[in-house]
Amino acid sequence: MEFLELKNLTKIYQKDILAIDKIDLKIKDGEFLVLLGPSGCGKTTTMRMIAGLEDVTEGEIFIEGKLVNNLQPRERGVSMIFQSYAIWPHMTVFNNIAYALKIKKMSKEKINETVKKVAKMSNIEEYLNRYPSQLSGGQQQRVAVARAMAVDPKLFLMDEPLSNLDAKLRVSMRTDLKEMHKRSGATTIFVTHDQSEAMSLADRIVIMNTGTIEQIGTPNEIYHDSKTMFVADFIGSPSTNFVDVKIISKDNKLFAKNDAFELPIDDKFNDKLHGYIDKDVVFGFRPENLVLSSDEEKLFDIDVVLVEPQGSHSVIVGRLLSKQIKIVSDEVRDMKNIKTLPIKSNGIYFIFDKETEKRIC
Ligand SMILES: Nc1ncnc2c1ncn2[C@@H]1O[C@H](COP(=O)(O)OP(=O)(O)O)[C@@H](O)[C@H]1O
Ligand SMILES: [Mg+2]
Repeated sequence: MEFLELKNLTKIYQKDILAIDKIDLKIKDGEFLVLLGPSGCGKTTTMRMIAGLEDVTEGEIFIEGKLVNNLQPRERGVSMIFQSYAIWPHMTVFNNIAYALKIKKMSKEKINETVKKVAKMSNIEEYLNRYPSQLSGGQQQRVAVARAMAVDPKLFLMDEPLSNLDAKLRVSMRTDLKEMHKRSGATTIFVTHDQSEAMSLADRIVIMNTGTIEQIGTPNEIYHDSKTMFVADFIGSPSTNFVDVKIISKDNKLFAKNDAFELPIDDKFNDKLHGYIDKDVVFGFRPENLVLSSDEEKLFDIDVVLVEPQGSHSVIVGRLLSKQIKIVSDEVRDMKNIKTLPIKSNGIYFIFDKETEKRIC
């Protein structure tokens, strides 16, 4: 059985604002699922409907097979952590975590035991007697996670919980959260607009775009098998380079042609491209799939705009047919005085329908 299921879920706010448009989603027990998408795509609305903080306009939410649409938030067994993690400043870490347990009338010994257990999982055992103001941002966030874990929720909802932390701390908290999830095994839905955070945390990623789901898959599936231009663009940094080409056929062989190059297309794509001959399509090259070449083997030259050294590799920013192209290269030598570079494809690319922006092959 699925742990959580959303069926045809729809949210229309007042004044006819369609925030969520008939989404279907199934989440397995113990899964770490990440909702990823740009600001305003409906991530928070989805979480709030699951938590019971927002009415559902249409559709159903099932937790462990049970329809919960009409259940109060506290009857759903869900714990939610928000962007502003709001732990209580006037209470020690211990009391912050113990608060909800006291309300539940748990025995003193059981409270002690539970607080110790979740504090250990969250690596804050040493700070139980401190007040929040005596903790760093990352430690405070761990307290918020511990507090949410203490009530032993069936489902954890985290809405951009790391976005108040500085860049370095975000990355280390990511690792901590993943470790905590491994230890607790709690089914988790995590919201972010940061693709790199999503990639590193998720068992599966749900990519959302204006109230709908674009694609669901493991981080690798989403990256290597992007189904739409939106996904290819949103996932990966630098993002996918899109190049307009026309599909042409010469002696039964297909080519992608524009003013800069003519690239022979692998015959295995012939069937899928059958209806596209003499039509415009969009090629998507991930930045690591365009590589520096010799002059003899090159597909095209780019005008080099600048080179961003990253230590282990460089990002070369160039121009092709007056559009920006970004290439990731192992080349780390000084390229300050280089004006143009010969480039070839390593044979890996996406081809998109220009109208629907869906992937053809
Ligand atoms: N309380 C509200 N009333 C009206 N519109 C809202 C309300 N909350 C969110 N929206 C709108 O719903 C859409 C989705 O918002 P939200 O779920 O907050 O997106 P995200 O969390 O992905 O940034 C946006 O267009 C937003 O302006
Ligand atoms: Mg939001």
